[in-house]
Amino acid sequence: MQLLDATRELLIKNSRQKDGFYYTVPSPELYPFQWLWDSCFHAIIYSHFDLERAKREIRSVVSHTLENPTGLLPHIIYWEQLKNEGGTDWGREMRGDVINTAWQTHGTSSITQPPVIAYAAWRIYQLDQDKTFLEEIYPTLKLHFSVLDEERTFNGDALAYIINPDESGEDNSPRFDLGQDLSPKHTADENLDKRILRMNQNAKCDFMAKKCMSEYFGVADVPFNVLYAEDLTYLAHIATELDDTHGQETFRNRSEHVKNDMRSQLKDGNLFYAFDYIHKQPVKTLTWAIFMPLYGGLLDPAEAETLVREYLLNEELFKTNYPVPSTAQSEAAYDPDDGFWRGPVWMAPNWFIYQGLKKYDFKDLAAEIKDKSISLIETSGFREHYHPETGVGLGAHDFTWGGLVLDMN
Ligand code: GLC
Repeated sequence: MQLLDATRELLIKNSRQKDGFYYTVPSPELYPFQWLWDSCFHAIIYSHFDLERAKREIRSVVSHTLENPTGLLPHIIYWEQLKNEGGTDWGREMRGDVINTAWQTHGTSSITQPPVIAYAAWRIYQLDQDKTFLEEIYPTLKLHFSVLDEERTFNGDALAYIINPDESGEDNSPRFDLGQDLSPKHTADENLDKRILRMNQNAKCDFMAKKCMSEYFGVADVPFNVLYAEDLTYLAHIATELDDTHGQETFRNRSEHVKNDMRSQLKDGNLFYAFDYIHKQPVKTLTWAIFMPLYGGLLDPAEAETLVREYLLNEELFKTNYPVPSTAQSEAAYDPDDGFWRGPVWMAPNWFIYQGLKKYDFKDLAAEIKDKSISLIETSGFREHYHPETGVGLGAHDFTWGGLVLDMN
């Protein structure tokens, strides 16, 4: 099968080895480090053809945790201190001064990314029942989730807040324009400047989130919380396998708590919206994130049907030649050419939407997302994102997320 071979070749080409660990870079030229949720995607992709590499990817991504707050998994591990003169987006963020000063740490960032790690580990375990692997990583996962629970929530609620848009994995999504005090039309540089400003502000709070998110930037984002709730259930499964009854109950209850808080605090009609804590209001910008509740099973079947009909299949919103645009076409922020998360199609969202559609038995639609995703790769290669109308490849080359189509099955 050609796609399998091409994916294997790409991931192996992007894999690196350092200090006895093996990791995979999302794209050699633009993203030459290890990213948290990317590595979870990589593990899922590897699990289709090389279980040992899948485990190695998880082992390396849990090899670094933060001192402040203790135990959080960082979103980037800088295995190599590459020299970068700047110029590109990440180039600026990779600059030594930014890494050392703004992150206030060595070798990692000080923020996190959406949790997909327990799910990825569970998927691996399903294939070989290797309890030793689970035992190895479980303490780190428990700690990471306890930081999210203790540091990222307010007043006994379970919703997790992010302290920088980059923690969503969708750096410049218009969902964060309100929190960043940006208008719908602004340049990539203006956006990055604001995100770097957040890094500096967060550094002032020593990355202890409760203060940062009540003073500078705090958003309860929908995909982050859906993934958090889902991952807690997989963590509960892992706890069960390891005979940790207390963990099992704690994580299961917490997952329910997150879901309940999402329903009571983020839901409005059929849609779930991010909540901006600083501005004390929901963010009603339409992005692909409105489909994440399908993945999390948060809608009843009638609500899911309406969501799909009125939004996913709506030609003025999310129905494009190549679905699913990251931002709805109706939004002032929509920029399919070089908007990054403001229009182009990304493969991880397509994978989440595919899984969500299957969960609600929209088989034909799921198959269509899969076919269109495959045709994007076949015609434009493994790119970071794609134009939702023309299918032209955009952003980084040799980008790994396209491999997720192997998991659309
Ligand atoms: C971009 C994406 C983010 C990803 C990173 C590495 O910053 O927005 O989600 O983790 O690239 O691929």
